[in-house]
Amino acid sequence: MLTIQLLHARQILDSRGNPTVEVEATLSDGSFAVAGVPSGASTGKYEAVELRDGDKKTYGGKGVLTAIGNVNGPILKVLKDHDAENQKGVDQLMIDLDGTENKANLGANSILGVSLAVSKAVAVSKKLDFYQYLEALYRPYGAMKAMSLPRPMMNLVNGGSHSDAPIDIQEFMIVPIGAETFSKGLQMGAEIFQSLKKTLSNKGLSTAVGDEGGFAPKLGSSTEVLDLMIEAGSAIGYKAGIDFAFALDAAATEFYDEKTGIYGLTGAGLDFTSSQMVAYYKDLTTRYPIISIEDGMSEDDFEGWALLQKELGAICQIVGDDLFVTNPKRLQMGFVQNLANSILIKLNQIGTLSETFETMAMAQKQGYSCVISHRSGETEDTSIADLAVATGAGQIKTGSLSRTDRICKYNRLLRIEETLSE
Ligand code: PGA
Ligand code: ZN
Repeated sequence: MLTIQLLHARQILDSRGNPTVEVEATLSDGSFAVAGVPSGASTGKYEAVELRDGDKKTYGGKGVLTAIGNVNGPILKVLKDHDAENQKGVDQLMIDLDGTENKANLGANSILGVSLAVSKAVAVSKKLDFYQYLEALYRPYGAMKAMSLPRPMMNLVNGGSHSDAPIDIQEFMIVPIGAETFSKGLQMGAEIFQSLKKTLSNKGLSTAVGDEGGFAPKLGSSTEVLDLMIEAGSAIGYKAGIDFAFALDAAATEFYDEKTGIYGLTGAGLDFTSSQMVAYYKDLTTRYPIISIEDGMSEDDFEGWALLQKELGAICQIVGDDLFVTNPKRLQMGFVQNLANSILIKLNQIGTLSETFETMAMAQKQGYSCVISHRSGETEDTSIADLAVATGAGQIKTGSLSRTDRICKYNRLLRIEETLSE
């Protein structure tokens, strides 16, 4: 039997220069793998807990030494000599050891690091590409999706909590709907990114980038951003609505006031009630080829979500991120109340590979689409690229066409594309 022999965690830095967890797993046959854990900025309140030390004198309180100690101490103690191929068993032991609903004791950052490092090490032992092993692990969940390269959603303009631009909507992504392959789609994204740089610069706007590598110009309104993206595309022969479409992540929880029930778009100088917010999106979708809206409403504004799904669900992908937090219980609520038609998948929102599979299989069986996602704070770990392929999710969002913390996932997909087509 292939067993876990050693787990070693260390504190590394993420793409924002904040500490995060990295775990090395060594198995009984000497197979070895490393996994890095990402970290969000616009986190949902129902996410599993990311354990931070809170000692203000070190990394402004963001150290993860406690989480690391949890891997090197109690987690290793329960997992040593455990069957490494029983991923569900490995994950369940950590869930039981933690003993809370939201992984507040051990931290989802420590648990996810182990969950991923162990699965990667098993893939090494079996001489499989990681996506091949993930596919084998996912198959028993019965979602019956064939492996495939995902379509990238490339985040060319960063607003909200991901930059200091006054843009209210957090992410303006382009989706290469006219591209036949992943690599062609990526090429389109990169070319439009470079063209947008020129467009912005010609207008005297900043070409500095935000957390996810997209531009962060001083623009207030969403329509100005969308117009510039269309201009950048057409300058090099790509037509919006034919070659590429738009996907938005409003991350609306960030600009929603729970007390007043008002969505405050301060950049654009607009205050909306929930139904006005829906009307705003409806108007945008009639004027622009927007095929996906993520977190259009705040995480607890269920009435707003239901209205958005009712008004736009037939023509647009309505994606729950903070709403569902990759959690099967939250997702079930979405099914019952008809809140969306798609779910964003972030491993660290739930904290284990097995629970992520459970959520994804539930979604796919219900006919919800799954969008595999990075976090705004990333590492060089490329597991989400393999996850997207293995589960046949069909879509991935992993940032813009700059910064290696984003590009490394796209590059990993280029390599997988080559092996899959052999
Ligand atoms: P986050 O942003 O990682 O900062 O939460 C990504 C997203 O909202 O999708
Ligand atoms: Zn989001």
